[in-house]
Order: sequence, then C-alpha cells, then structure tokens
Amino acid sequence: MAKIRDSGVPGQELWESFFDAGAILDALGCYALTGDVVEFGCGYGTFAIPAARRTSGTVFALDIDPLMVAATAARAAGAGLTNVSALQRDFVTAGSGRPAGSVRCALLLNILHLEDPLRLLREARRVLQPGGTAGVIHWRRDVATPRGPPLDIRPDPQQCGEWALQAGFARVRACELSAAPWHWGLALEGP
Ligand SMILES: C[S@@+](CC[C@H](N)C(=O)[O-])C[C@H]1O[C@@H](n2cnc3c(N)ncnc32)[C@H](O)[C@@H]1O
Repeated sequence: MAKIRDSGVPGQELWESFFDAGAILDALGCYALTGDVVEFGCGYGTFAIPAARRTSGTVFALDIDPLMVAATAARAAGAGLTNVSALQRDFVTAGSGRPAGSVRCALLLNILHLEDPLRLLREARRVLQPGGTAGVIHWRRDVATPRGPPLDIRPDPQQCGEWALQAGFARVRACELSAAPWHWGLALEGP
C-alpha cells in the first residue's frame, strides 16, 4: 500500500482554518441527500463529518492512514453520527470497494494531484448512481496559497474537467466557492 504523492496535511486546526467544509459541500451540491457518499482520502474527516449531516445515507470515508481513519471515526462518534463508516483502504490499488452505481455523491477533495487522476475519476464514475454527482476541489494555481502541492503537480479546473470527460462523466459544472478563497470547485455529473 502506498500514499499518493504529497498527501500530508498539517495539524487539524490549521488545516480546517483554510476553508469552510460545510459551505463547500453545499456549493458542490452535496446537501439534503438521501443516498450514500464516498470520500476518497478523508483525512481528519473534515468533509466526511459535515457530509454525514447532509445525507440520510452512509458516508464511506476511506483513507490509507489508520490514524486518519481513527480520527474520523472518533469525530463521528463524538458528534453522535451513526452514518459514517471510516475504513482503512488504499483506493489506488484496491478502488473504493463500493458497488457500481451505488452512491449519490463521490468526494475528491484536495486529492486529484495524484499520479493517475484518470483512474480515480473512473472509479468515482463507476460507483455513482444515475443522477449522482462527484464533487472536486483543489488548491488554486493562480493565487498564492498557504498550502497545497507543488505547482508542477497541482491540477487546474480546466485540466480536471477534461480528465472527467475522458473518464466518462457527461457534464462538468464550475462551482463558486465563496467560503474557500484558495480553492476552485467542480461538480461532475452523469451520464
Ligand atoms: C491532502 S489530504 C486530504 C484529506 C481530505 N480529503 C480533505 O480535503 O480534508 C489526502 C488524504 O489522502 C490520504 N491518502 C493518500 N494516499 C491514499 C491512498 N492511496 N488511499 C487512500 N487514502 C490515501 C492521506 O492519508 C490523506 O489523509
């Protein structure tokens, strides 16, 4: 099992000071859901916890790092959320483990700088149900940012949109992230 490149995060408090996770999910269209959600690389559960509050389904929060899995599970338990399944899993070598067409929302947040983005996007599309959405955010390249992977591996929204179409998504919608000045967002839909 191997971590994707440049996937470390600073302490939780600093990481979560960079954006408003709930507002980002809302901007991506991940709210008032009735289906399952899968997050690829959940970290501290920064997005998995607010996602669980936005769906009546289960949030499958995947991370290769057992400390991140434990942190997410503990946060869910502390918040009284029973619909978070935090799982240790290498999504690069093992995929998400979710059945085809089974999730309403797939979250690819601060992760698409990995070595093979097309493979991950294809896995996200495989597990999405008809009418489902994959939400993508990443650090901007056009402004100075306090974190983020090196510019030579940091994807921009146009590149990610092209990858998404290659991976079989039908539509790419740019999302305004007013609560995240250093990030851009895309909602990937269909077919
Ligand atoms: C930059 S952090 C982003 C966390 C979260 N998506 C967020 O935005 O708050 C990337 C996360 O992906 C995890 N990760 C790295 N490689 C992975 C792999 N192959 N399979 C599953 N998780 C992985 C890391 O452990 C880390 O928690």
